[in-house]
Order: sequence, then structure tokens, then C-alpha cells
Amino acid sequence: MTTTQSLAASTAPRAHDASAMLVLGIETSCDETAAAVVEGGLVVRSSIVSSQIDLHARFGGVVPEIAGRAHLERIVPVITEALFVAGLSPTGKALDGGQDLGAVAVTVGPGLIGALLVGVACAKSFAFATGLPFVGVNHLEGHLYASLIEDPDLELPAVVLLVSGGHTLLVEMRAPGEYRVLGETADDAAGEAFDKVARFLDLGYPGGPAIERASESGDAAAIAFTRPMIAEGLDFSFSGLKSATIRYVREHAEIASNDVAASFQACVVDVLVAKAIRAALECGAKSVCLAGGVAANGPLRAAMVAAGNEVGLRTFLPSRQMCTDNAAMIAAAGYHRLGSDGPTSLDAGALPNLRFPGLRRA
Ligand code: KG4
Ligand code: ZN
Repeated sequence: MTTTQSLAASTAPRAHDASAMLVLGIETSCDETAAAVVEGGLVVRSSIVSSQIDLHARFGGVVPEIAGRAHLERIVPVITEALFVAGLSPTGKALDGGQDLGAVAVTVGPGLIGALLVGVACAKSFAFATGLPFVGVNHLEGHLYASLIEDPDLELPAVVLLVSGGHTLLVEMRAPGEYRVLGETADDAAGEAFDKVARFLDLGYPGGPAIERASESGDAAAIAFTRPMIAEGLDFSFSGLKSATIRYVREHAEIASNDVAASFQACVVDVLVAKAIRAALECGAKSVCLAGGVAANGPLRAAMVAAGNEVGLRTFLPSRQMCTDNAAMIAAAGYHRLGSDGPTSLDAGALPNLRFPGLRRA
């Protein structure tokens, strides 16, 4: 059994611009098959996410071969549903005489090659058959648009803390397409650390939500883990904390898993919040935003708002559904990329190791 989730259309009422282009976004970089139609890079007309969590749970992690096959089975129905909910035919024509689809955007990387290829091949075929422009999107850049989609009045420059299963990045977003990388992880991503510690504690998959659930009845002060690199620069390192957690449990067999989970989570949250706030203050940002799967974490969200309030910084937390992988963020990023760079060649392929498109702070 798998779940198909339909994100509600954007909640904030906005002035409607009839000429705003409709972009179909497609996302298959990991274990979510997703398609969405977004108007003018901001207004979500439809967003369909078919999660494969149940398929991978018994293996304790995403199995690339299974992910690719599941994307292949689901991608066409998911796209068709996204088009239909947005009032469009399977070829992108308006069903009610309104505006037709204007472009097709797809995640080209980073991600699992077999998973990416399904979305990329599908998007290119759709673009070729309909004659619409094709736009390749960097998945990480997509995550940055979660905040702008849900809060179009977001004040820029903003510092975005992007924390997912594969990446931990602090990015200054000056304008759509204009980024500067302020910090990144030297080893494990934040989500990866959650997943590995959860697996070690036998808490289930995916690890982040499992640790969060276990923590609810745990004591965050039970183990005083050293906060890695908390006062040093804006880069991160979580591999040592993961090893320290495992070592502690091996040496203290009597410790309750819930206490370990809560102490580990508190440590990660402290480091993420301290660095995001410091980054925002250092570069004079007007707001701080969260993005990526780990941004669904309740204690992280609460701590970020509290720390922002303390120093007078506005924080924006996208909804949990917008934090985790979805195609609305890909359509939004694709809309801006099309405006700045024009269409991507249909010769372009999937790029599993694609890096974030921002310059590193000098
Ligand atoms: O952004 P995402 O959906 O996929 C990637 O692009 O990686 O992020 C998935 C990651 C996983 O590591 C998962 O454990 C973590 O986000 N995650 C969480 C929570 N929900 C998902 N981590 C901590 N707390 C959560 N509630
Ligand atoms: Zn992601």
C-alpha cells in the first residue's frame, strides 16, 4: 500500500494574474512520485504526491531499484491527476477555455539515477509531444521555493536552512535564482544522521519522524552530547554526533531509547538553529526560512521561531507537506529558471551528483 496525498491549493489569497504561465512540475529524485501545476511560479493549482514509504520501510531505507520501478508505474497517473485537478487535459489544454499549460519542469538532479531518469524521460517526452518548453531543475533549488510559494510576501534577502536526507545547506537567497552558499555539511546530512541513529535504535523508517515521536516521551537532557562545531563558522558536521550516540548506547545498555532520541534531536536542533540565526545576522537577512524534509521536525520549528523572535528576525516555516519532496516547488523553480535561462535542451540528461547552483561565500 502506498499513499497518495493531494496538497491543497495555496491558501493565501492573491491577486490573480491571468497571463501568469502555468508550469507542470515533475519530481522523481528519490522515493516520492510527484507532479504539480503552478501558476506564475507562485499559485499552486494542484500538487499530487505519491509516497513510496511503505515500499521501502521493511528495508530500512530507500532501495533504488524499487524506487525506479515504482516511479515508472505511477508517474503517468500522477501527472494526469495533477493536470486534471488544475483544470487541464492530459496534453495540457485548458478544460474550461482558460489558460493552457505553458512549460514542463522536472528535477534533473541530484538524486538516484534510476529514479531521476523516469521523471526526466517522461518530462522530455511530454515536452516533445506537446511542443512546450522543457526546463531542467536542480532539486535543491526547488526546496528553496517552498517558502516563497506559501508566503509570496516573504522579505528577501532570506537565509534558508535546507535540511534533507541528502543535504544540509545554509543559503542566502537574494532573489529567485540569486544564491550564495553560506555553509554546508562536511560529512553526513542532518536527515541522514536522523535516519542512521533511528536505524541503530531500531525505531523505524523514515528515521526523522521516528526520532521525533520517540523523543516526545524522552528526556532531552539525559545525555549531554557535545554540540558539533556550534561556535565555529557556518559549516556543519553530524557524523561525529552519530558515532557518539552509538558509542554512548553501547556503553550504557540501560539507557532508554526515548532518552537517547530526545538528547540526539536536541543536539541537532541546537546546532541548526544557532548557525541559521548567526548566518542571518551576519549577512543582514530580513528573514530566516526552513526547507527540506528535516524542516518538518516540530522541535526544530519551535526552536527556530523562538530564536528568531529573540533577535527580532522574521522566521518562515513552510507547511510540513511543502518541506518534504513535492513537485510544486519544482514547478516554481522551473518557472523562474525558464525566465532567466530559457528552455533546457532536450539532449539534457539526469545528473545524480548535481551540486547546488549558488556560489560559495568567499
Ligand atoms: O527533503 P526530503 O523529503 O528528501 C530528500 O530530498 O532527502 O527529506 C527526507 C529526510 C529524511 O532523512 C527524513 O528522516 C527527514 O527528512 N525527516 C525528518 C522529519 N521528517 C522527515 N527529520 C526529522 N524530523 C522529522 N519530523
Ligand atoms: Zn528533497
